[in-house]
Amino acid sequence: MPSFGNGRRVAIIAGVRTPFARSGTTLKDYTAIDLGKLAVAELVQRTNIDGALVDLLVYGTVLPSVMAPNIAREVALLPHFPRTLQAFTVGRACASANQAITDAADQIALGHADIAIAGGAESLTQVPILHSRRMSDVLVAASKAKSLSQRLAAFATLRPRDFVPITPAIAEPSTGETMGQSADKMAKINGISRESQDRFALRSHRLAAVGTADGRLTAEIAPVPIPPQYASMMSTDNGIRTDSTFEQLSALKPVFDRLYGTVTAGNASPLTDGASAVLLMSEDRARALGYTPIACIKSYAYAAVDPGEQLLQAPVLAAPVALQRAGLTLRDMDLVDMHEAFAAQVLSNIQGLASPAWAARAGFSHATGDIDESRLNVMGGSLSIGHPFGATGGRIVTTLANELSRRGGQFAMLTVCAAGGMGHAMILERV
Ligand SMILES: CC(C)(COP(=O)(O)OP(=O)(O)OC[C@H]1O[C@@H](n2cnc3c(N)ncnc32)[C@H](O)[C@@H]1OP(=O)(O)O)[C@@H](O)C(=O)NCCC(=O)NCCS
Repeated sequence: MPSFGNGRRVAIIAGVRTPFARSGTTLKDYTAIDLGKLAVAELVQRTNIDGALVDLLVYGTVLPSVMAPNIAREVALLPHFPRTLQAFTVGRACASANQAITDAADQIALGHADIAIAGGAESLTQVPILHSRRMSDVLVAASKAKSLSQRLAAFATLRPRDFVPITPAIAEPSTGETMGQSADKMAKINGISRESQDRFALRSHRLAAVGTADGRLTAEIAPVPIPPQYASMMSTDNGIRTDSTFEQLSALKPVFDRLYGTVTAGNASPLTDGASAVLLMSEDRARALGYTPIACIKSYAYAAVDPGEQLLQAPVLAAPVALQRAGLTLRDMDLVDMHEAFAAQVLSNIQGLASPAWAARAGFSHATGDIDESRLNVMGGSLSIGHPFGATGGRIVTTLANELSRRGGQFAMLTVCAAGGMGHAMILERV
């Protein structure tokens, strides 16, 4: 299978993100578009890239604004760019920023672009809330009424239940199962204990706290002024618990399957607001402009499972394909970053990667391999840092590329699970 790039290597120049905030807290007054603009503006300033040189902006979001569904174009209208910067929005659930990055990388590899910005944003505070179907019908009928009495007659048909708003559920449209229920189900199928989930969540908080305190995570964050006064700045993630203990985590009640479940608020990623942005260039253009790439994209893959099966297990199918496309094995990876939607999901994914049966499903005769814990999520992950759906992929690519460079390693792999039973894997190479 050909390796990604066809001779035009795609370089990661820099990445930046807003702080990630638990939804309904510090960033609650920012829309996803505002957050995206903050991240992209900071990326432009930090890299000193001339906005007129950017060929393309690709952005991901999972719950787009009904009023401005193409978030990418809204972000591209920042004063840092000419109004001619074309931009499009992509959606692949929790892997949306990854999709933005691979779409931008494809355009560069094809020779259709030399310089692109990709990333994503999400406000899980400002989610669209809909009227009921009946209420919508009545509002339309009332708007077409030719007299006050006709309008009143339309409203008179409303019943109390018609006023109940509809909020987007984090559930599969095809099965009705929520993400949390899926994680609980995966824990049961794969025998992932409550204790191992809580220990993994604790590890995530501890490592993210270290990465924040020593400045490695903080360096990737664009400080954001806090509304409504805008007098102080938020410069670190507010979900990381430096004081969390195993005893506290063990005491939390299961939230999704209250009777027999093991998934709690402590071992699930929290609902989060935030945005990320990554600057990509063809390697030749980067060198010509005097930029030193942090890493190159060596390969990537996407895969899917039946959403009714193990919803968050598809990274296990994507990883061996991405590795094969790179001509590498899991043992060659100096670092691995697996998106932490739920501790039960990461632990199931690790188990799946070590399983010949899962490898066979991806078309391979040997298991992908064992994950060396000392190389895994070395600065925590979404369980502690938070998970603004559309933005997370940009955070992972940035942190992984920076850490690979700091450690002087050569290769790194990231994986992301996503709603719809989808999974993503990407291999980075330090250059
Ligand atoms: C799990 C979920 C329902 C919890 O929401 P919540 O109840 O608002 O969560 P909270 O932050 O209020 O936490 C609940 C309690 O757990 C405690 N808690 C959470 N994490 C903790 C930790 N690491 N250590 C100690 N206590 C913790 C909180 O302090 C809180 O305690 P309190 O009730 O005494 O204040 C929500 O985060 C969720 O839906 N997550 C999953 C999102 C999802 O599906 N993502 C898709 C992934 S792809």
